[in-house]
Order: sequence, then structure tokens, then C-alpha cells
Amino acid sequence: MEKDIFQRKDDHIKISINENINSRNTTWLECVRIVHNSLPEINLKDIDISMEFLGKLIKAPIIIGSLTGGTKLGSEINKKLAEAAEKFQIPLMVGSQRIQLEYPDISKNFASIRKSAPSIPIIANLGISQLIQMENFNPIDKIIHSIEADAIAIHLNPLQEIIQPEGETNFLNAKKKISQLNDYLKIPLIIKETGAGFSKNVSSNLINMDIKYLDVSGLGGTSFAAVEYSRAKKQNNHLKSIIGNTFLDWGIPTAASIIETRSVAKDSTIIIGSGGIRNGLEIVKSIAIGADISAIAQPFLKRAFNNSKEVESFIETLIFELKSSMFLIGCNKIKDLKKTEYVILPPLSIWLEKRVHKQR
Ligand SMILES: Cc1cc2nc3c(=O)[nH]c(=O)nc-3n(C[C@H](O)[C@H](O)[C@H](O)COP(=O)(O)O)c2cc1C
Repeated sequence: MEKDIFQRKDDHIKISINENINSRNTTWLECVRIVHNSLPEINLKDIDISMEFLGKLIKAPIIIGSLTGGTKLGSEINKKLAEAAEKFQIPLMVGSQRIQLEYPDISKNFASIRKSAPSIPIIANLGISQLIQMENFNPIDKIIHSIEADAIAIHLNPLQEIIQPEGETNFLNAKKKISQLNDYLKIPLIIKETGAGFSKNVSSNLINMDIKYLDVSGLGGTSFAAVEYSRAKKQNNHLKSIIGNTFLDWGIPTAASIIETRSVAKDSTIIIGSGGIRNGLEIVKSIAIGADISAIAQPFLKRAFNNSKEVESFIETLIFELKSSMFLIGCNKIKDLKKTEYVILPPLSIWLEKRVHKQR
């Protein structure tokens, strides 16, 4: 029983590496068609993809998304991810630090992430269920301090909790706790989904609570229903495995979620476009339709499990794809991607017609 949380974390890693845990639904980014520019009038080598994020200069708009931490296997994976993030000067979001709350000794495993990546933005991570149960925010200070975090992400995962055999399904007071934490913190608070996306209503609620950073983590990549379906099946939990299968494609596709969130955002809102982002062109599309930066999770897990070279070569490919897309648009700087010309095709166009443009 005591070791349940360690087992669960390693189960998530192994299932994500060995099984197909992708939603059957796509991100709908394929519905975003960028208009090609045959006369770009720029030099590929002058394209600058650096930007400021969390008060630091980063070399590309790519965040290594939240995956794991704490267990022996999780720490080995995080070490490789942290070293690659430092080498390429891109941000890293660690996996949930809940394990640290229950086993304070585990803090040293998380602390070593900062040692491997002294200069990049590192984002701490905890689930909404743990936040709801907190009487005070001292534990939050501890997890932030352990990795000298530049920001903390609180993840919202109602889909996972409903299917996870040991899931925590009391979300009462979530908004109040988020607001209190936001007032308490001295570093930025990021609210993130975990693969089911934010609607404009949820984003608007969070923005009205003065949350500046939203990570939409939409549908189209990792499906936590699929991950928990697999765990439930292995545990012969018939009901939960049926539920996992039923909700495999539940959520708001990433492209729709980014556009919905941007439609209610303030100028100061920073949107992280994530959930099923798999190449540099999709990063560019995400930014063109309203995100400021992207995050990618599952593809990094498989590669870090194998070896550091695969992680590095993946980042190099993403960067080259990103610059190639910008060359084909005729765009020199990340911030200018917002002016990119694109056309939105069905089914995304139909969704937006109903939910964003006409507000029927
Ligand atoms: C094995 C695994 C573990 C994850 N653990 C966390 C976590 O601890 N905290 C969190 O906020 N998100 C977690 N996520 C969700 C990702 O950060 C991301 O939001 C989601 O997987 C969608 O992105 P992707 O399609 O690029 O994987 C996890 C994802 C995977 C695959």
C-alpha cells in the first residue's frame, strides 16, 4: 500500500512507452492550413526562434512537458531531459511532485534536476487534488524550493481521476484554492490540463482569477483515459477499464482549445499550446492560431528512456522543422508568427463557427 504511488508512477512510464496511449482523435491542427509563401525574402540562417519566457531568454519556443519524477526510473529520465533542456536552453516542466509531499526524502531526486539544468526555466508541478486537500501552502513552498522553480504548474485531470482505480474525484473548492494559491505565490502560477483541453469558459474563469499562464494540453496526443484503461485492465478492474475505453477520445482538440482560449485571453495571457504536438510545423501552427509557446510530453519520454542522443536529436529536428516552416512563411521572428496567414478547414471551422465566431 505504502509503495502504491511509486508503482503508479512507474506504471505510467512503462505503459506510455510500451503501449499505444494516443487518443484516436487528432489535435485538429491538420485543419489549420498555412498559406505558402514562394517569395519569402529572408535568409534561413537569420531566423531567430529565441524568446523570453518566465523572465529568462530561451533558445526555442519548446517546453519539455510534465512527465515524471521521484522514482529511480523517473529520476533517470528527468536527468536526461534536464541535461538536454540545459544544452538547448529550453524550459522543462517536471512531473507531479506529489510523491515528495508523502516522502520528503525524495526531494533530493528532484533537487538533482536543478543541478543538471542550472540556467533554464524549470516549472514545478502538482495536481489539483493535492492542492484542494492542503490546509496551508507550506508544502508548495517546499516543492518549489527543492528545484528552485521559476514557476509552478497545477494540473487539472478530472478525466484521469475518474478512470484511475485510486482516483480522487472531489473537485469542490478547486477555483477557490487556485485563487488563494495565486495570491500567495511569489512566482507565476500555470494552470494546465493533461490531454483533454480547456474550453473558453474554463479559460475565462481562470483569466478572471488573474491567472496569466494557461497550458491548454488538449486532445489529440496522450490520452490519460488510455493510460488508466490499461492499468485498470491489468488490475482486473472491469468497471474502470470499460470507463477508460468509453472516454478514450474525451476532450477538446488542441487546435480548438488554443483558439477558444485566445478568444477570451487578455493581451498579457501567455498560452502554452500542447497536447499531441509532434513536430516543428505543429509548433508553428499553434503559435499562428494563438499560442505563445508549445509543450511536448510523451515523445520525450520514449526517447529519454532509450538514451540522451535520441532526446537531443529530437530537439534538433523540432528546431529545424520550426525554422523551415518559418522560412516557408517568410517570418524571421517568433512574435511575427502571430501575423501568419492561414485557412481553417472542417471540422475545426465548424466547431469555431458554433463556439467562437457566432456564439449561438
Ligand atoms: C507518462 C506520463 C506522465 C504524465 N505525468 C504528468 C504529471 O505528473 N503532471 C502533469 O501535469 N502532466 C502529466 N502528464 C501529461 C503531459 O504533461 C501532457 O499534458 C499530456 O501528455 C499531453 O501532451 P502530449 O500529447 O505531448 O503527451 C503526463 C503524461 C505522460 C505521458
